[in-house]
Amino acid sequence: MHIARTIPQLREHLARFSRPAFVPTMGNLHEGHLDLVRQARPLGDVTVASIFVNRLQFLPHEDFDTYPRTWDSDCEKLRSAGCDVLFAPDENALYPEPQTCKVHPDPALADILEGHFRPGFFTGVCTVVMKLFACVQPRFAMFGKKDYQQLMIIRHMVRQFALPIEIVGAETRRAGDGLALSSRNGYLSEAERAEAVQLSKTLQAMAQAVREGERDLAAIEARAMRVMEARNWHPDYMVLRRRSDLKAPEAGDALVALGAARLGTTRLIDNLEIDATPSSDEPMTR
Ligand code: PAF
Repeated sequence: MHIARTIPQLREHLARFSRPAFVPTMGNLHEGHLDLVRQARPLGDVTVASIFVNRLQFLPHEDFDTYPRTWDSDCEKLRSAGCDVLFAPDENALYPEPQTCKVHPDPALADILEGHFRPGFFTGVCTVVMKLFACVQPRFAMFGKKDYQQLMIIRHMVRQFALPIEIVGAETRRAGDGLALSSRNGYLSEAERAEAVQLSKTLQAMAQAVREGERDLAAIEARAMRVMEARNWHPDYMVLRRRSDLKAPEAGDALVALGAARLGTTRLIDNLEIDATPSSDEPMTR
């Protein structure tokens, strides 16, 4: 695996390829990231991953300084998953001057849910992803569906700027008990780790209520919030939205259940696409 530390090094190495398949990450890799690398491999003529903990997407009180940096094991994992090139710039190499030119995604998508609770988060994400795209010039780029809203915003950005990149969304990788794999799971104590699966269980219960024909979505959401609070979580949101734009659904829309909640000091997110489309014979209430 070739390691490039600067933009010129990366460009020089990639000059001989025409269809890079790209997996951007912030490191502390788990099987979910490695799935993305494995799925990228057959798509392009070279598989490129990046590791860069992007200061721009952290709020001042968030975990930028303590975000786990696990360089040796990340390199080992990427090698074994078949990554060809790792782009791992330091802050000075990616942001040699203050990054005052930023990508502000559509507020209708970016100021709700995660963007409401983490203002500026998606501007930070879009800015670094645009810059990484400019460095790697990929033909394909892989993003996990666990970050459902992020995937949707990146797709929208790529479409609006007519970037010649196919965005590929990969299914969420889960632990045996159903907990979505996340770099932040490593913050959980043993007891919290045992409890953490409750987020996905509650999303499943929301999906089940929809499948069973319950029409009052607001009641389903409120029940989910209560279930989480009763178990000492601090939920930011437990909602049912339409998949196409994350707005309040109307009858006939395909749905996704999304949740974000803090357990102790660790904030987790997860989501679940709901297969059953509610029939349109009566309106859904919220
Ligand atoms: O999903 C992530 O790990 C990050 O938001 C990304 C896309 C690598 C940008 O820093």
